[in-house]
Amino acid sequence: MTPHRRLIPAVLPSIALPSTSLPSTSLRATLTRSALACLMVAGMAAPVLAASPALEQQHDDLAEFQVIAHRGASGHAPESTLDAFSLAQDQGADYLEMDAQLTADGKLVVFHDDDIERTSDGSGAINDHTLAELKALDVGSWFNEAHPQRADTAFAGARMATLEEVFDAFGYDARYYIEVKSPELNPGLEEALLAKLKEYEMIQSGRVLVQSFNRSSLLELHQQSPALPLVQLLWYYPDDESEEEDGRLEEWTGVTPGPNRIEDADFEAIADYAVAIGTNVRYDGKAVIDADFVHQAQDNDLRVHVYTANDHDDMQQLLDWGVDGIFTNHPDRLIELTR
Ligand code: G3P
Ligand code: CA
Repeated sequence: MTPHRRLIPAVLPSIALPSTSLPSTSLRATLTRSALACLMVAGMAAPVLAASPALEQQHDDLAEFQVIAHRGASGHAPESTLDAFSLAQDQGADYLEMDAQLTADGKLVVFHDDDIERTSDGSGAINDHTLAELKALDVGSWFNEAHPQRADTAFAGARMATLEEVFDAFGYDARYYIEVKSPELNPGLEEALLAKLKEYEMIQSGRVLVQSFNRSSLLELHQQSPALPLVQLLWYYPDDESEEEDGRLEEWTGVTPGPNRIEDADFEAIADYAVAIGTNVRYDGKAVIDADFVHQAQDNDLRVHVYTANDHDDMQQLLDWGVDGIFTNHPDRLIELTR
């Protein structure tokens, strides 16, 4: 792992001046509909939407299949730690997936759960603790206890990472797929995240995708920073109250109807602010999406990323459907299948 402490912007001399030419064909295919419309109306002069070559390259790369390391290589190392991200990078993942949250004193940390019990030796809500309190926790030993076959003494005593520490560790050598996690529990998270991305020039350097289940959070980010590529997360589950056989599928926050009731307009509405959807493939072991769903989303200008596939058969099924990326705890397995 190469240290990148405060190297920015020296490590990225190629950050571009606002473009005055038409976006490339591939960029057109992945720019959100509203961003493209603004560019056209503004005669390509809107600097806020101008794409640097690095950002164009990121959009181009999204046309290829993406290996997304879910909380790092979390099948091999304690999730969301620098060890897990370092391993994912070594394995060749395209994106390091992580969840951003705010501490009680307003610092951005990388952590998945709302509570700290499962993956630390502390207790309570993450947002009730200051960064100093969270830094005193051991977020690695639980992994050794839960996965003795993959235990490593080096994991014991691992510390929770701030987003800044992740950026300092990997700089522009990695791409980051950052979730605005539980925004209702993390008021101000969107603003804090955007400020940190700007401080590190992560957007124009084509290094970041921001994902959320919360459409309002994404819309706020899109308004503040139209060039920031966004991913609308979806989670389909069967409504037990439904009289339909096996339950009628619904989406958790109502962003779309269930997959078998989705219309093009539902995907078009997402494509107004996002470049991709990130969706679950199964609920309770049963598939909730299929190849038609994938193709319909793609036909409406959305890349389709799917979470979380860890075994060979699941990965192969999704590849056969033509998905554009897979979130996995085992990037090494997915890379073996795809490269
Ligand atoms: O962010 C994609 C996927 O990670 C969503 O699920 O619960 O692992 O954050 P979760
Ligand atoms: Ca996540």
